[in-house]
Amino acid sequence: MSLLTKKADELLGWVDARFPLTSNIKAHLTEYYAPKNFNFWYFFGSLALLVLVLQIVTGIFLTMHYKPEALMAFASVEYIMRDVPWGWLIRYMHSTGASLFFVVIYLHMFRGLLYGSYRNPRELIWLFGVGIFLALMGEAFFGYLLPWGQMSYWGAQVITSLFGTVPFIGPDIAEWLRGDYLTSDATLNRFFAFHVIALPLVILGLVAAHILALHEVGSNNPDGVEIKKLKDKVTGIPLDGIPFHPYYTVKDMVGVVVFFIVFAAIIFFAPEMGGYFLEANNFVPADPLVTPAHIAPTWYFTPYYSILRAVPPIGISQFPGVAAMGLSVLAFVFLPWLDRSPVKSIRYKGNLYKGWLAAFVISFLVLGYLGTVPANVWGQFGAWLGKADIATVVARIFTAIYFAFFILMPWYTKIDKTKPVPERVTG
Ligand code: HEM
Repeated sequence: MSLLTKKADELLGWVDARFPLTSNIKAHLTEYYAPKNFNFWYFFGSLALLVLVLQIVTGIFLTMHYKPEALMAFASVEYIMRDVPWGWLIRYMHSTGASLFFVVIYLHMFRGLLYGSYRNPRELIWLFGVGIFLALMGEAFFGYLLPWGQMSYWGAQVITSLFGTVPFIGPDIAEWLRGDYLTSDATLNRFFAFHVIALPLVILGLVAAHILALHEVGSNNPDGVEIKKLKDKVTGIPLDGIPFHPYYTVKDMVGVVVFFIVFAAIIFFAPEMGGYFLEANNFVPADPLVTPAHIAPTWYFTPYYSILRAVPPIGISQFPGVAAMGLSVLAFVFLPWLDRSPVKSIRYKGNLYKGWLAAFVISFLVLGYLGTVPANVWGQFGAWLGKADIATVVARIFTAIYFAFFILMPWYTKIDKTKPVPERVTG
């Protein structure tokens, strides 16, 4: 043993006597046994962690030059883009990172739907996940106000007004959120506080809980087989498990490299992504006296925005739409208890579940598209249908399918024809 190795060992021993370093590396990396059959869909958890770190680091650098003040916010972002060395790169990394965060999270959640990862014993992993998702939506919404462009301003005005539709207490809640009668400097200041400290803390805490819960019960896998049920009699190691490090750290590096290629391609060649990542109207300074003709949220909110517009008001109250929009996100909370199938993975579920999942994904995409365009994009049906606007009728049909996926789940998962699940994971 060289002197250097000896000294390093001594240092590690010194640390271990005071802090559980080696034991934690073992418990969470080198002796954490993950199923050996992880596939493509298992890239997105580690990618979500990567994007979280990227957002925090680029966010810290943006904060060094950004001014959370109505008269200076827009100009400070332009200053970052034009005058701060590499400022444009940091800003585009942060704005592109926000969109890719949602791409990664939607794929990560879809994996849960494919393999029943929300099922017993992983309900808490899922619930912490839904909590992260809600916090992330808040984080993105608060962040979008900060450049103080037209879409920032009017987007915030529309969304805070939605709270105003809650019966009785709504108008007070909306005013309390804004800190003023209208979106103003006070709103910008508090949204800045939420965006840079309050919600990041909540998200980090929830991510820690998410991963601790995962390591308590162990990962699910594409077969939905519990690998802890079959362990080596001598070592106690799951027969279908492999150490997370080095096997999955190496696999995850492949995902990281592909992610960075896509990330760089967007940042360098299409940072606005045709208006989907950064809207044209947001390059115009906020003007409280000029309402843009078409106000649409960023792409990741559009499915819910479509649901909001699809549900008709009662009298002049828009509350039914707002309630439906809230429920469309909260519905994910109930999945662990709605799925009554005897099997977890889609590999062994029947055609009913496959059909409903496909219908859900299609409705999510159609609603997502419809949310980006004005409500009357396809014109009207004509007098024979009470002059109904085509896009709204289509949005109503797909909103019904979206909710039916959840509401009917206990029924179709119960009567579905499932296949026998193998005892060991397959390839
Ligand atoms: C910042 C956001 C998030 C981060 C950093 C994160 C991180 C992770 C990581 C590292 C894993 C293990 C690796 C993997 O299975 O891919 C994981 C597993 C999981 N996550 Fe997340 N996650 C996030 C958000 C979510 C959300 C929004 C949901 C669902 C609503 C969710 C549900 C799950 C489930 C069910 C598992 C277990 C999957 C299985 O074992 O098959 N996560 N997450």
